[in-house]
Amino acid sequence: MARNFFTLMRSSAPGATAAAEPDRATAPPPPPNVKQDDAGGGVHLDPTLAAVRHEITEAVDMALQLRNVSAFYGTFQAIDRMTMPIPQNRVTALIGPSGCGKSTLLRCFNRMNDLIPGARMEGEIEFEGRNLLDPNIDAVEVRRRIGMVFQKPNPFPKSIYENVAFGARINGYSGDMDRLVEDALRRAALWDEVKDELDKSGLALSGGQQQRLCIARAIAVQPEIILMDEPASALDPVATLKIEDLMRELAEHYTIVVVTHNMQQAGRVSDYTAFLLAGEERVGRLVEFGPTQEIFTNPLDQRTEDYITGRYG
Ligand SMILES: Nc1ncnc2c1ncn2[C@@H]1O[C@H](COP(=O)(O)OP(=O)(O)OP(=O)(O)O)[C@@H](O)[C@H]1O
Ligand SMILES: [Mg+2]
Repeated sequence: MARNFFTLMRSSAPGATAAAEPDRATAPPPPPNVKQDDAGGGVHLDPTLAAVRHEITEAVDMALQLRNVSAFYGTFQAIDRMTMPIPQNRVTALIGPSGCGKSTLLRCFNRMNDLIPGARMEGEIEFEGRNLLDPNIDAVEVRRRIGMVFQKPNPFPKSIYENVAFGARINGYSGDMDRLVEDALRRAALWDEVKDELDKSGLALSGGQQQRLCIARAIAVQPEIILMDEPASALDPVATLKIEDLMRELAEHYTIVVVTHNMQQAGRVSDYTAFLLAGEERVGRLVEFGPTQEIFTNPLDQRTEDYITGRYG
């Protein structure tokens, strides 16, 4: 398992400090929820802006590399200059109190924020050498390659088979559809439970089965990355454990980024963890990123420790 390869080292990321100091000559005016510095009229620099990062010492490629990613809803800044990697074929957990920008950040990864009127993103998310946030990049193609599973299972009011086949068909898949459907359902650990009733409505399944159906639907369009926003929070403990097992299995083939409020879950399923926090101005910032084991046993930032031990949020 990936965790065995970690040589646990600690350091501050070299780029973090530089990222904290905006170029005052060219920086756009700050949004209203970011404080002005009274003396100079410049942007008030949060001294905690530079996130600490543990070094990644295992040999792993990066599926995504974020650089100074910010997101806005109209004039409200929801997240501020987040810089971190998303390692390939690993599970990365995004944790932090409600409102710190976890869902917003997740939606940046596949341009889902584009669908929210007034939402805007800045910075760079590198994916295979290109910046995903570049307006010239086709957001529909991004969403095929970077799929999403939501908190509340949302199968289409169609048969189990059609739920899985739908996306592939829209994308013009011309191969063996039966095989594709079976393969996706197997990977989502649902095949054995539904193989004899593929014509049944997806809505007739239990909550946990519906969530695995949604995962099968995401897999069927052959994505490289799967984003999951609290995928188990609406499920009972047994269904939750199934989803957690599934996440670990999926990481063999896909890169997984999961938002969770459940610290035990983050500890169980993820290889890497990013801790986000919003201050008084409600601007979400990355506090700490690193191997989950390090974040949980040896956090570099007091606020990470406070959150993990349940002292706030
Ligand atoms: N569509 C939107 N329009 C305006 N503001 C939004 C929108 N979505 C989120 N926000 C604001 O952006 C900030 C971050 O919200 P987000 O939903 O990303 O937080 P979160 O960490 O996912 O919270 P939770 O744990 O409660 O799901 C919050 O202040 C929220 O009110
Ligand atoms: Mg959320």
